[in-house]
Amino acid sequence: MQWTVAGDATPIISGVRPASSTAETGVATTAGAVVELDHVTKRYGPPGAPAAVSDLSLTITSGEICILVGPSGCGKTTTMKMVNRLVEPTSGRITIDGDDVMTLPAVELRRRIGYVIQQVGLFPHLTVARNVGVVPELLGWDRERIAGRAEELLELVGLESAAFRDRYPAELSGGERQRVGVARALAADPPVMLMDEPFGAVDPIRRERLQNEFLRLQERVRKTIIFVTHDVDEAIKMGDRIAIFQRGGVLAQYDTPQAILASPASEFVERFVGADRGLKRLSLARVRDLPLTAAVIARVGEERGEIRKRLTGAREAAFALLVDEADRPLGWIDGHDVSGSGPIDATAATPGAPTLQPETTLRDALSVLLASSVQLGVVVDHGERVLGLISVDAISQQLRPEANGP
Ligand SMILES: Nc1ncnc2c1ncn2[C@@H]1O[C@H](COP(=O)(O)OP(=O)(O)O)[C@@H](O)[C@H]1O
Ligand SMILES: [Mg+2]
Repeated sequence: MQWTVAGDATPIISGVRPASSTAETGVATTAGAVVELDHVTKRYGPPGAPAAVSDLSLTITSGEICILVGPSGCGKTTTMKMVNRLVEPTSGRITIDGDDVMTLPAVELRRRIGYVIQQVGLFPHLTVARNVGVVPELLGWDRERIAGRAEELLELVGLESAAFRDRYPAELSGGERQRVGVARALAADPPVMLMDEPFGAVDPIRRERLQNEFLRLQERVRKTIIFVTHDVDEAIKMGDRIAIFQRGGVLAQYDTPQAILASPASEFVERFVGADRGLKRLSLARVRDLPLTAAVIARVGEERGEIRKRLTGAREAAFALLVDEADRPLGWIDGHDVSGSGPIDATAATPGAPTLQPETTLRDALSVLLASSVQLGVVVDHGERVLGLISVDAISQQLRPEANGP
């Protein structure tokens, strides 16, 4: 089951960016909106009480996933609830596309913001379809429209409507409940989605799948998503931008995952992202992000003398990559393998050159190369044809703090 819809039509809405899953079904036609927090402070107690959120200013770009991350009690949920007006800021201003959330009519606020809360929060006494239809019902849609909407959203999040719409939350797995929660948040097609630890209650394997599916869903719907987690790995994986909070709702750093991992703004951030931040950065970049080196290529059937000449000509290369008729790598050969004359055959190559694909993360590429104790990986396309080489050195250079992210 996947949170994707069939068909590849991705129309451009009002010339901005692909925002729609399908124009035909109208599953999602509203792109994101800009959310801006301007010097926002929240104190739950009397004046002078410690602030839950302190002078927070953030601009959340339309269509991006902004992660709020930090230790427990640092003000993440409070921040989210202020966007939704469930909590009133003590001072400061929050706007959606320029409109102050404090002055928006309640109906308009519900139309603009979808909310996926911690522990899902489905209504246990309502069926799945009724749960998904809660906001449209509040907005006064007619029964038929709500039912149609619930059906298309359940399909969008990978739940077959006929099998799920009449069930109750207790009759669903944790992952299924989570999908219903997301469908419910999308029901009124809001430009903004708030997600508070949406995958927190799901086991690690299912969480990984839900994360991937959610990222694919977001590629289609392009909502502005404010996503709370306390898990830094989830933040790095899911975020276009990450806001790292310190206790008291103090913003420690707000930047892309790459930039935060490359240059943490403080010791707190450095400790929070972990000692292995170099490796974490490698998991954000892919083989295709690095320039590939050309290999000295030898093709099966070629004259050994020709290959020898090519190897001597390429001063730095002691090895040539032997490929078959379809450019697929067979293994490495050296000067010794091409001594004498006559055409070379496949058995001349020492097999075992590890192959990598352009989509392989640098972290995985490095593990493969280190495990096979060779210095060069052969990058191949989906037809296994050689595209070029990537070296352990080139990958390790990305570990240096001053190296730019992809
Ligand atoms: N309704 C409330 N009344 C009083 N204090 C609260 C309330 N909600 C949260 N707090 C306090 O505000 C701080 C931030 O809480 P919260 O925003 O829930 O943090 P997080 O979501 O990062 O765990 C905590 O110290 C918490 O105890
Ligand atoms: Mg919280």
